[in-house]
Amino acid sequence: MPAYSAFIGTARKLRPRTAIVLGSGLAGATRAFVEHASVGFGNVPGLVPPTVHGHGGRLAVGEWAGVPCLLFSGRVHFYEGHLRGVVVGTVRAAAEIGANRVVLTNAAGGIHPALDPGDLMAIRGHLKLLDAGAWRGLASATAWRALAGETAVPQPYSARLLDAMQAHERAAGRELMAGVYAALTGPSYETPAEIRALARCSADAVGMSTALEAEEATQLGMEVAAVSCITNKAAGLGATTLDHTEVLTNAQLAVVRMGELLGALVRAD
Ligand code: HPA
Repeated sequence: MPAYSAFIGTARKLRPRTAIVLGSGLAGATRAFVEHASVGFGNVPGLVPPTVHGHGGRLAVGEWAGVPCLLFSGRVHFYEGHLRGVVVGTVRAAAEIGANRVVLTNAAGGIHPALDPGDLMAIRGHLKLLDAGAWRGLASATAWRALAGETAVPQPYSARLLDAMQAHERAAGRELMAGVYAALTGPSYETPAEIRALARCSADAVGMSTALEAEEATQLGMEVAAVSCITNKAAGLGATTLDHTEVLTNAQLAVVRMGELLGALVRAD
């Protein structure tokens, strides 16, 4: 892969420590990023090009306000038919290049009543409802782990980076809610009844990504931060019928604030 060899040469010189994964419609959050080199996902070992509109599928290396970083524009999803190993390809590629921090962003539906389109929510925990029988797993996970003598699943989201995000937002005169993200398989949006059930399971927002990447990054020893851009009220909670165009349009409401937050995460010690 000659395109990747050229890219990796630049990346190794720049030594990025932070990798950012941009979710649907969030390309406008990267105005502070100056690209030095980039490559299509199809040329990165372990990655495949995304098929979803709004997910560019490029890996760039450059500087964010002078700090070296990697930028994945787009990701691949479980609902595109990929196995776990492909979905986490971004995070693995970032670790391979030498990054030790990953910032995951996504578009999500707001379940918590305080979350409206255009809001951001820092993720402090997730419900990973991606496997066959996931709901059953949710009900029995605690009991099963106790029976199997397993230790708790490591908590992926860095409390330190969460503090840094909230301190940054407070200094800007805003509150950043921290909440629980429910990751579902998609590709269809949820039913209102599913959203009511998720609310009772403590979910504050719902989407179709991030959980697998966060867990993989944790296993690789990386520090993880994640932010949801709320693009709609979750099914049954708002006046409109959900569609991907609405998601892309409403993501624009939050790109400036998301860009500032990403800058704070890239700069955090
Ligand atoms: N549900 C699932 N995924 C989403 C949503 C939603 O309401 N909004 C954006 N991504």
